[in-house]
Amino acid sequence: MRANLLRSSVLTFAVLAGCSRQSESVPSSTIASTSSSAMVTFVKTQDGSPLEIKAELFDTAQAKEFSRTGKNPYIGNADAIAQGKKLFQMYSCTQCHGGDAGGQTGPSLRGPDFRYAKDATNKGMFETIWHGTNGGMGAKGKGLMDPTDPNNGLKPDEVLQIQAWIRSHDGKLTGNE
Ligand code: HEC
Repeated sequence: MRANLLRSSVLTFAVLAGCSRQSESVPSSTIASTSSSAMVTFVKTQDGSPLEIKAELFDTAQAKEFSRTGKNPYIGNADAIAQGKKLFQMYSCTQCHGGDAGGQTGPSLRGPDFRYAKDATNKGMFETIWHGTNGGMGAKGKGLMDPTDPNNGLKPDEVLQIQAWIRSHDGKLTGNE
């Protein structure tokens, strides 16, 4: 009997503690905005308006980290740089930007100066590659590709590897500064 009483008072305490914790907790509207701010806010290079990219497309540890921090964890990674070089060819970036990203009909991507100043950062360059520009750069490098179709073309992880290769040409600029 005594043990039972003790147990029930412990239970009551636990419930009360739970309640008070709940009443201290933030309103659900705040929770919603906190959880969405776990992902950095991407914007279109065209007009600075929000660029929605589904969270599930960030499907590797590195891509997930990038989606939270805007920093590209592949910078300086030899495997990613080698893979990025292949992808740069596979997705025909070479046709306009040259085999060494030094420029051809499209501009050089080596920096440190860019047409879009934000491309000096990895987040900014990611947005430019993902959604294109108004001046001849198609989304994901292909003008006819629907940039909103997640099954079409480059994945975020591949963009990050391409970027690691692009940045490997300029020792001064990692884009993660
Ligand atoms: C059909 C030609 C073409 C292809 C293919 C292409 N680009 Fe571009 N790209 C351009 C042009 C032209 C520009 C300049 C756009 C502007 O001034 O608005 C550009 C701009 C860029 C920029 C911005 C450079 C700056 O100075 O700010 C990046 C980054 C870029 N391209 C990356 C890529 C990558 C990565 C690929 C492959 C996935 C790719 N491009 C494929 C033509 C192309």
